[in-house]
Amino acid sequence: MYDAERMQIEAVIREYCAENDLPQPEMLQWSPLPFAGEWGISTSFFQLAAQEARRQSSASSARKPVPQRAQEIAEAIAARLGVPAGFSRVEAVKGYLNLYFSTAEFAHRTLQAVISEAANYGRGQPKGERVMVEYAQPNTHHSFHIGHFRNAILGEALARIVEFAGFETLRASYPGDIGLGVITVLWIYQKFYQGQEPQGVHERGQWLLKLYVEATQLLEEKEGETEEERARRQAYEAERREIYRRWDAGDPEIRALWLKTREWSLEELRDILRMLDIQIDVWFFESEVDEPAKKIVEELVQLGIADDERPNGPVLVRIDEKLGLKKEKYRTNIILRSDGTTLYLTKDLALAKEKFERYHVDRSIYVVDSRQSLHLQQTFKILELWGFKQAEKCFHLGYGFVSLPEGAMSARRGRLVLFKEVADEAIRRVLKEIEQKNPDLPEAERSIVAHQIGLGAMVYAMLSVDNNKDIVFVMDEALNFDGHTGPYIQNAHVRANSILKKAGGLPSQAPDFDYNLTPHEINLIDLISRFPAVVQQAADEYRPLVIANYAYDLANAFHSFYHAVPVLQSGDERVRAARLWIVASARQTLANALRLLDIAAPDVM
Ligand code: ARG
Repeated sequence: MYDAERMQIEAVIREYCAENDLPQPEMLQWSPLPFAGEWGISTSFFQLAAQEARRQSSASSARKPVPQRAQEIAEAIAARLGVPAGFSRVEAVKGYLNLYFSTAEFAHRTLQAVISEAANYGRGQPKGERVMVEYAQPNTHHSFHIGHFRNAILGEALARIVEFAGFETLRASYPGDIGLGVITVLWIYQKFYQGQEPQGVHERGQWLLKLYVEATQLLEEKEGETEEERARRQAYEAERREIYRRWDAGDPEIRALWLKTREWSLEELRDILRMLDIQIDVWFFESEVDEPAKKIVEELVQLGIADDERPNGPVLVRIDEKLGLKKEKYRTNIILRSDGTTLYLTKDLALAKEKFERYHVDRSIYVVDSRQSLHLQQTFKILELWGFKQAEKCFHLGYGFVSLPEGAMSARRGRLVLFKEVADEAIRRVLKEIEQKNPDLPEAERSIVAHQIGLGAMVYAMLSVDNNKDIVFVMDEALNFDGHTGPYIQNAHVRANSILKKAGGLPSQAPDFDYNLTPHEINLIDLISRFPAVVQQAADEYRPLVIANYAYDLANAFHSFYHAVPVLQSGDERVRAARLWIVASARQTLANALRLLDIAAPDVM
């Protein structure tokens, strides 16, 4: 907005500089004036005054202090500008030129932009840069728990934000489909459950988790175990090792079982992603980078970055030593076991390369549990030692733990809070509430809205907390329609929608807003006008929380407006039209913000 006016003003400034033998300013920096009932923009002349001073010889007696010169220039330019069209006043203060927009004009332009750009309001200019966001990458042969949900939502919100901010965005997943955990499940399946297969996508996925828990208990050393128990446990252990060896050797029977059961997990994952409206563009699998990872190990050995202690020891990288660090920071990492098998870290080296070289990304973001922070820092450092330039374009977005008030989770103990169970419960509760509050809503619609609100509540509970903090998910709090919650924001959207529906549409001509706007209206227009900048900030900082907070503030401002300011009953035709535009713009901006958070914006509830 105001681009044309800004350019005209800049032309006047340049003209003034040319006529007065001042250096030409390179790029004029404009910033919004802090809002105090009036909107405006401002630029400063300090840089120009300083440049001028540097040009004059220091001996010159005519030389004035920079702040004084900056103020002189600001005043001269203010005088030359007068009050340009679209502005209400211009002032020169402390070396700054402040231009205030006429309030009615600003309101008109802001809301006109929202209504005409609609779902695109807030979208940034294309940045010509490609970003890959990796998330939703749980291990297979396991079930999707509430921690995976936080990961998936954080990653999806981030992807939506950077995409909307103007970056070309690729969504990637990287399920851990091989490793001891996976082999453990294959072992117990072979031994006790051959041929069994529960029906139902989620039942099957969750069943694999049950097998894992049972197997872990069988393989675990128990206190005071008898000779017999011990012998049995060791036999199991040997069988599991044998399965791993056969997998590694490409044994067709084991590979087939592995692929079949892996698919059960992936089906469940895909179903949950569908439910969350997440579409992954690129699927990487740990098993697929195993071979490329081995090649990288050989290269690192040849380059002298890795130390090869085979056959009696592993291949390892002494990261701190290679970086010349005196204090322990990145430590030492094994990258190949003595038996020639790779590790999680080794595969991450190959994955990083794959992302940049095959998909030509400029930046690579990893949304991964904070507890893997050292692991990823080690990965990036080894890549750097290897001379992989893009290592500096890799970023880890970590996040904390999720638990329920009942207590912490433990996969080994089978104490996992499954996402699907919590989501079903949330949706059930919302359905009950809608049945009471809005019994006239047709059944089919009721179920859709219950999904939108139940999931919206859970999503917002994940995104409204700083990613570094742990979350204790309390369902009653998340579902509270009056709290700092998803439903509270969704309800603002519903209210805006119902006003517009009653009004029977929006006056097609933008109103002039030339009346005494109430503080509630000013506040709403102000928030709406800031949305594009908020999107850029969230993208620059990789922080969905910025949008989560913004959506809450906007909803809050709307609810206050709704209670205090009559729209349909405003009495004056002009005012009614203007307020309808404000309501429509608030609804649109709420919908756009909610979309970035992967939360539905229902029309009724
Ligand atoms: N599958 C891993 C886990 O569940 C997360 C993968 C993280 N991404 C990576 N490039 N290491 O812990």
